Amino acid sequence: MIHFNNSGCGLLARPVLKAMIDHLVLESRIGGYEAAAAQAERVSDFHASIAELIGCHARNIAFAGSATQAYTNALSAIPFQRGDVILTTRNDFISNQIAFLSLRKRFGVDVVHAPDHPDGSGVDVAAMVKLMRELRPRLVAVTHVPTNSGLVQPVEAIGRHVRELDLLYLVDACQSVGQYPIDVHQIGCDLLTATCRKFLRGPRGSGFLYVSDRVLNDGYEPLFIDMYGARWVAPGQYRPVNSAQRFEEWEFPYSVVLGCAAARALRAARGIGQHRGAHTGAWCLPT
Ligand SMILES: Cc1ncc(COP(=O)(O)O)c(C=O)c1O
Repeated sequence: MIHFNNSGCGLLARPVLKAMIDHLVLESRIGGYEAAAAQAERVSDFHASIAELIGCHARNIAFAGSATQAYTNALSAIPFQRGDVILTTRNDFISNQIAFLSLRKRFGVDVVHAPDHPDGSGVDVAAMVKLMRELRPRLVAVTHVPTNSGLVQPVEAIGRHVRELDLLYLVDACQSVGQYPIDVHQIGCDLLTATCRKFLRGPRGSGFLYVSDRVLNDGYEPLFIDMYGARWVAPGQYRPVNSAQRFEEWEFPYSVVLGCAAARALRAARGIGQHRGAHTGAWCLPT
């Protein structure tokens, strides 16, 4: 039997493990707050290196404990009302769909699934665009690479129409970040979520949310924003910070964040993310 023991969760490289253990040791020696202050620059490397990977600015990146946490946090920022439509596909991630059903149960939103193209290439973009025009969905939500079918959804083609119609676009890129080239501006998404534990080979319990400037400027904020994401400016008033930090919380698993930053640095050092396989277009190792 050959066990492909990297697909659900990449095996940690030694420098990643070392970065995490070193930080835990530092915390035990000088205290968690002091250790975080000492490593502040390397923590910000996390945001900068993820931003570089997907073509945005560090201010657009929020750390999250998982792709699902990033996704539900993003959903919580949308003030859904009864009758609002979430337009999605028939090949989405199960937890996203359960979250949509939960929104349906609590707020009465409608969940509409665009049909697949008969040729098996994924969602039928023309049919999806027709639904966008007819229903004016509050949210268009697409999973780029669904979990286990090998399908790659045409997120850029969908994004062009979403932008034309000025709708809100959330992309689950959990299975594509690190495996495929991702450029959030080419995709045209407002929000994008991913884990670090798969193709980025970061530790478990890590992921991120991309939040576009458009979304930040329009004032979207997570439902439960905390004192890290907002400033309490007057007795009955708070103001969200100007960056995707508004989607983070004050408390961080610092060793995990540093492990992710180390994984990104290692990837860059090994030249991963510079060569694309001729057949699939996915990243591959330099030959
Ligand atoms: C397409 C897709 N989206 C989201 C997730 C959830 O990621 P996480 O377990 O980090 O919440 C997965 C996990 O395998 C996935 O395959």
